[in-house]
Amino acid sequence: MRKKILAANWKMNLSLQEAKELFMKYNSLLPQADNIDYYIFSPSIFLHELRVVKGKLILGAQNFYPEKSGAFTGEISISQLIDAHVNAVLIGHSERRMLFNESDELIKQKVDFSLQNGFNVIFCCGESIEIRDKKEHINFVRNQLEVVFSHIKATDFSKCVIAYEPIWAIGSGRTANEKEIEEMHSAIRNWILKKYDVSTSQNISILYGGSCNGKNAKSIFSCPNVDGGLIGGASLTFESFNEIANKLQV
Ligand code: 13P
Repeated sequence: MRKKILAANWKMNLSLQEAKELFMKYNSLLPQADNIDYYIFSPSIFLHELRVVKGKLILGAQNFYPEKSGAFTGEISISQLIDAHVNAVLIGHSERRMLFNESDELIKQKVDFSLQNGFNVIFCCGESIEIRDKKEHINFVRNQLEVVFSHIKATDFSKCVIAYEPIWAIGSGRTANEKEIEEMHSAIRNWILKKYDVSTSQNISILYGGSCNGKNAKSIFSCPNVDGGLIGGASLTFESFNEIANKLQV
């Protein structure tokens, strides 16, 4: 049975004190169940200060550079993340693609590098509103997967989690509806089935992200091909994240 996953992407928010307090609450108060994992993607500068003390929290980084070391001013290496007890990375987020010009090629290198180093990968994909309006969203997302994973074997792919985040739903308060979400999630699972095999496609967790909150989480999580969420704004307080976590449990 595939894992249910709830991931918090704190983006460039919180003070150190706030991050430590929030992380402590996540550590001790989130509902625990055998088949649920929680990922916390913190700003990198706080990572050394956050320690997983119990349960299923997995500490993740929002970014790194896919080289061992060297003259890459401002960047963070995988071994530096290992020093900070990090073992998950977020790759392909639309904010990094658009605001920091991350190309498919760089994203592919990041996926390769993190898998070679035994990291858990949450890979983000999703279309703009212009692409959806042209009804090209399914092909667009399939292509985002194809260009990055074309050479990846099933054993490695099975260490990845896919997060579908339509760009128009991120931070906009306009979440995709259940039909739109299920259409895309089943298309992604079908892509996995065609490229790999039944067991890989059935075991990969596919998350939804984009204006998910305590009110809409239940209906989003009721979609058969949704295995959890990648949460931005609503991950910044314990109460709102916990509310979503409770919807994933039932
Ligand atoms: P919001 O939940 O704030 O829409 O952000 C989603 C997101 O981008 C998570 O990576």
